[in-house]
Amino acid sequence: MKPKIVRSVEGLHRETANWRAKDYSYAIVPTMGALHEGHLQLVKTGLEHADRVIVSIFVNPRQFAASEDLSRYPRDEAGDLAKLSKAGAHLIYAPSLDQIYGENFSTTISLGGPAKANLEDKFRPQFFDGVATVVAKLFIQSGADYAMFGEKDYQQLQVVRFLARDLDMPIEVVGVPTVRDADGLALSSRNQYLGKVERQHATAIYKSLTQAADKIRQGVDLQTATRAAARSLTTLGFRVDYVTVRNAETLAVPLSHTDEPLRLFAAAWLGTTRLIDNIEV
Ligand code: PAF
Repeated sequence: MKPKIVRSVEGLHRETANWRAKDYSYAIVPTMGALHEGHLQLVKTGLEHADRVIVSIFVNPRQFAASEDLSRYPRDEAGDLAKLSKAGAHLIYAPSLDQIYGENFSTTISLGGPAKANLEDKFRPQFFDGVATVVAKLFIQSGADYAMFGEKDYQQLQVVRFLARDLDMPIEVVGVPTVRDADGLALSSRNQYLGKVERQHATAIYKSLTQAADKIRQGVDLQTATRAAARSLTTLGFRVDYVTVRNAETLAVPLSHTDEPLRLFAAAWLGTTRLIDNIEV
């Protein structure tokens, strides 16, 4: 069935009140549109957790720096609707700007912990404040029971988990494994910026992470393994922002001989496209 589209908080509340009256549980999948298989996997997981699934589509200006790609960020509402219809989403919430940021909007959430881990926050200092603000609004506006977030943006997932926990938001944040192309490249709306040759090279980011994770499991020390991965990416023409290993929950730097749960992270530029990825160790 074709999902309904609502563009106002009022419209959203009308639909969710209906569901509550029927005692339905519901999940929200926050997105910025330009949907791919990774997003559809979030919808699928939402359907496994709840009776109804809302997908929000909102390109959030507050998480982009002036130098970033807000104006050219891919937008394809018609294509998104067709995909969501097939995926079985029940409701699309595509708010206009004023439904999220009303006149004189003046609230920011101050974040610490995983939002200050020296990963994405170091290179995109405005990013998590913008994400936390819009995500808090979407959680409150929707009143959803579950929220689905991809592990592809693992730092974002942890930031949102801590946000919901710290502010006692009555919502369960569910992390969903990264969907990859056959050659290992993690799906991302920004992959469409890659030229043909860049796209072929892009797979190296996942390969270098997998090799580093194997080495760490074999007992190679964390710094040696991550430095080798960064070196091999640089040799292949990437400009590396970071390759690093962190505690999988807090994202703090782990002790060198540790039995903490670990996660490997990489961010690197290929031409004008910035790619990020991460895997469990
Ligand atoms: O991951 C994204 O697409 C965005 O950061 C999110 C969570 C929808 C907030 O704008």
